[in-house]
Amino acid sequence: MSLDHMYIRQYDNTCPRSGATNVIQDGLTIKPVLQSENSAFGAEVLGVDWSKPFPDATVAQLVALQDKYAVLIFRKTGLDNARHIAFSQQLGDKLEINPFFYGRENDRLREPLLFDVANIELDGSLVKMDSRRWHHSLGNALWHTDSSYHQQRSKYSILLSHGNPVEGGSWTHFADLRRAYSDLSQMKKDEIENLVIEHDLWHSRKLASPAVFGNPLPHELAAKPPAYHRLVQVAPDGRKTMYLAAHAKRILGMEFEQSQKVIWELIDHSTQPKYVFSMEWLSGGDMVWWDNRQSMHRANPYTEHMTARDVRRSTILDDGPLAFGASAEEKSVAERDKIN
Ligand SMILES: [Fe+2]
Repeated sequence: MSLDHMYIRQYDNTCPRSGATNVIQDGLTIKPVLQSENSAFGAEVLGVDWSKPFPDATVAQLVALQDKYAVLIFRKTGLDNARHIAFSQQLGDKLEINPFFYGRENDRLREPLLFDVANIELDGSLVKMDSRRWHHSLGNALWHTDSSYHQQRSKYSILLSHGNPVEGGSWTHFADLRRAYSDLSQMKKDEIENLVIEHDLWHSRKLASPAVFGNPLPHELAAKPPAYHRLVQVAPDGRKTMYLAAHAKRILGMEFEQSQKVIWELIDHSTQPKYVFSMEWLSGGDMVWWDNRQSMHRANPYTEHMTARDVRRSTILDDGPLAFGASAEEKSVAERDKIN
């Protein structure tokens, strides 16, 4: 695998995108980011009134856009924590509870339904370089989907920024797994069709920070045991896609080393610049809503010169047919059919 990903700050395609063609649809203005012959990936959506809860028809309209574009970007929403959560709850039955929430007094946001992914400590200071939290964050700079290490995975993540933008600019990067899958050779598609993958949070932490997360602590391991999901899946728009992440540790029925080779060849294929765009965070209130079932993303790593970046994430549990990943039977069949 290549850790070069961790140091790239911006890819060729960006959002905002200059010269984007606007599409007007039911009162909303949509600016697609990446468009190819038979697909579109990422869109800025303008004209949403975030001041009050949405009627069901508006939620359905936004979900239809989400199914098509996989990543939706909204600027200056003005949402606070409560409205962020309320909107998220309109998109699914349950939100993921932060497994590292150790009581309101120990959490900057005092809210178990939000993940504090800021670089800010409880006392308002910046995360200390080389602290355990600093090293934990490094894994977020590897390409991943959120929560693939849970047996009940999450369908959406919604990341909202508060306060001032980071000095010097800040980006989150997204890759289109549907298009990456469709461009694979038929031979490769046949090869990977029935693979089941073990996803483990501690695997990606170890890759990004071997010195600190080579041996995770017992309470960390207990908080996040591995999970098992099929690699090739069907996306909400009906196209085939891959469920792939730096958390992907082992292909069932295959040795670890060979698994990693296959997994990272697929991640490298899927994150070529033609499938990727960098979303720039411009103002407080900017928000990005992505579908973990059909995209991967990565953050820029923390740096020595970073300024405060107050971003908070809600995560909506999957309630669809693939929500609970591979069944016990699929797992035992995959383990039995040795592939090498
Ligand atoms: Fe993430």
